[in-house]
Amino acid sequence: MSDKRPVVVYGASGYTGRLVCEYLRELNVPFIAAGRDKARVQAVVDKIPGIETADYEVVEVEHSVEALTKLFKGARVVSNMVGPFIKYGPEVVEACLATGCHYTDTTGEQDWVLDAKTRWGKAFAGKGLLLSPGVAQMYTTGEIAANICLETPGLDTLDILVLWKGFPTYASTQTIFTILKAKWFYLEQNKLVEWNQSETTEVNVPGQHATALALPWGGTSHPIWFQDDPRVASCKVVGGVFAREVMLNVVATQKMVEEKIKPLPPEQQEKALAEIAASVQAGMPPRENPRINTSLDSVHATGPLGRAHCVIHGNSNYKQTGLLQAYAAYSLLQQPPRKAGFASACQAFGHRELLGVLRSFGLVLTPVLTVST
Ligand SMILES: NC(=O)c1ccc[n+]([C@@H]2O[C@H](COP(=O)([O-])OP(=O)(O)OC[C@H]3O[C@@H](n4cnc5c(N)ncnc54)[C@H](OP(=O)(O)O)[C@@H]3O)[C@@H](O)[C@H]2O)c1
Repeated sequence: MSDKRPVVVYGASGYTGRLVCEYLRELNVPFIAAGRDKARVQAVVDKIPGIETADYEVVEVEHSVEALTKLFKGARVVSNMVGPFIKYGPEVVEACLATGCHYTDTTGEQDWVLDAKTRWGKAFAGKGLLLSPGVAQMYTTGEIAANICLETPGLDTLDILVLWKGFPTYASTQTIFTILKAKWFYLEQNKLVEWNQSETTEVNVPGQHATALALPWGGTSHPIWFQDDPRVASCKVVGGVFAREVMLNVVATQKMVEEKIKPLPPEQQEKALAEIAASVQAGMPPRENPRINTSLDSVHATGPLGRAHCVIHGNSNYKQTGLLQAYAAYSLLQQPPRKAGFASACQAFGHRELLGVLRSFGLVLTPVLTVST
């Protein structure tokens, strides 16, 4: 047996990485908090209340397959928080594969989910390892709601709404802008169909009288997760933040990107998008407050002779993400995933189990479910 701590939190100096460390501490899982700057990681970890009771170490690592492979050797699970993942993910996945570690990350990038599945899904499956990009509030909580609807057989179409209230972090903002370069897809009769990126939808928001403005938000991960699920033929998702003024700004930015940035050569596009993202969010947002930072995941599932609607009201999106990552690692240390290779959080750990975990830490309410068949 290796005496190495079994879980590596990569990107532990970030907003979400810190939360993963917090929940690993609460689950009594020993971990390595890793990042490109040891002092920055140490400073963040030092602020975790009760950190003196955790079994952990802080390690500096360069972002290369070679250095990450050396770090991961002897560990069993890597929880990756270094995004945008389409940009920084491949080195981490390669190092996991080389060292036999399960891989999870917090992505909300549909292109990265698709890329990871296509490039490494079979290799991870061959080794009995989990490759799970997107173990995170966006979009695991909605996936839980979808799976609760699908407990009623005979429903084949998912209409999903994902909304949250809060401030994105630096890397989240970079990610939101990176997604603008990609193609976005929804699932229509088992085929991925490209979104018209300028489409907006006025949505009814369960639990309030006011409507909201929602966007395809990069297509989200659900169409990819449900693509090979025989229960589901069609899956379309819209989302964003509750605040209408923010959404109107996003619409205006998307238009500007389409007209001014997409005609640029690829390297210049990336630089221009990163600069705009940095001007929108350069610092660390405040710690979440459950009275302010709420989440809403609503799923209408329909079939020829049935309907189900499941709503999950929650709070503290980043905390939900930290907990889901920590629980995934905790579970993988004790038993193999339910599905090896490319798998969503619900496919790997079970939607009812994940709901129970979020409920037990006070981050979501009991789902509201209505069914008619
Ligand atoms: N889907 C969801 O619900 C959800 C929820 C939370 C987060 N996320 C995603 O998770 C990612 C991280 O979010 P966050 O909130 O933790 O952001 P953050 O606070 O900005 O942290 C980003 C982390 O990545 C590290 N990093 C950035 N560039 C790097 C590089 N070139 N090499 C090595 N490390 C690098 C940073 O290290 P330094 O401190 O050294 O800069 C930091 O540790 C984002 O992509 C975000 O979209 C998704």
